[in-house]
Amino acid sequence: MQKINGNFYHKDILSLDQFSQKDLSILFAHAKKMKTFASNLRPLKLLNGYVVTLLFYEPSSRTFGSFSGAVKRTGGQTIEIQNPAQVSSVAKGETLEDTIKTFESYSECIVMRHPIAGSAKKAADAASIPVINAGDGTGEHPTQALLDMYTIHQHFKRLNNITVVFGGDMLNGRTVHSLLRALSLYKNNTAFLLSPKNLRLSKEDFSSIEKKGVKLIEIHNEKDIPKKADVWYWTRVQKERFANLEEYEKVKHSFIVNPQFLAKYGNKNMILMHPLPRVGEIDPSVDADKRSVYLEKQMRNGMYVRMALVALILGKIK
Ligand code: NCD
Repeated sequence: MQKINGNFYHKDILSLDQFSQKDLSILFAHAKKMKTFASNLRPLKLLNGYVVTLLFYEPSSRTFGSFSGAVKRTGGQTIEIQNPAQVSSVAKGETLEDTIKTFESYSECIVMRHPIAGSAKKAADAASIPVINAGDGTGEHPTQALLDMYTIHQHFKRLNNITVVFGGDMLNGRTVHSLLRALSLYKNNTAFLLSPKNLRLSKEDFSSIEKKGVKLIEIHNEKDIPKKADVWYWTRVQKERFANLEEYEKVKHSFIVNPQFLAKYGNKNMILMHPLPRVGEIDPSVDADKRSVYLEKQMRNGMYVRMALVALILGKIK
């Protein structure tokens, strides 16, 4: 996996492990500009003539929608394949490698979501054009972590000395896996991992992420949430990763954020984030709370960050 090392041109985006602080600074400076263009409906011509394939083997609203919007707002066009297992030659048994070869003939970049961890790397190895991992099973979801870090930075004006309480599914949540790696790029960050016992980070993830420098503290009871946290990052229990749905039912609503929960365990300066979709773990009565950033800020930032990322990868900005 190639490091970005200040130069995004033609790089695959597979994991947060490719990034450094400097790379995030470059990306965020551009995302800020993209936000101004998009908010003022100023069309950009950066990607004129370019086509980006969105190949999504798993359902998606925000990642798909924001990549599609991002490419179009920067002047490019998209080939959009949602559910290739039904609508493309994948249904006839075509391999991932052949599918990738196909879309690399028609476009300059492939954004792929796939149910199997490691498949983004496999696609990138098969492709001669850049591949962006839009979520590979229980693996990673790097562009989500980038927009999450952008959102944290926008609010706190720093990315070090941050305490994040992750709530939900640490084992299967790819957004958690990427955001923990992102936090490890900065000094003095701490993550409290609040989950049912059977949804802890895997041993391998725990030790490899901890080695990168972020302090990890596993907790299984909301009473152990630190009062002074900066960010709560809530997540959905990932139903589709359970072999046994009864097991899912037992843990799906272990930690529900509602106004009482927030009043008891939160503080007034924190923000509440969620990659979405939520399926009950944040009560809608919390949406109007000014600490909730998941519905507007976080989602919109996704598009600005992806506008910047695609333009950087295609060499249209530096
Ligand atoms: C997440 C995903 O697909 O990993 N959604 C997203 O991209 N914003 C989170 C989830 O599905 O729980």
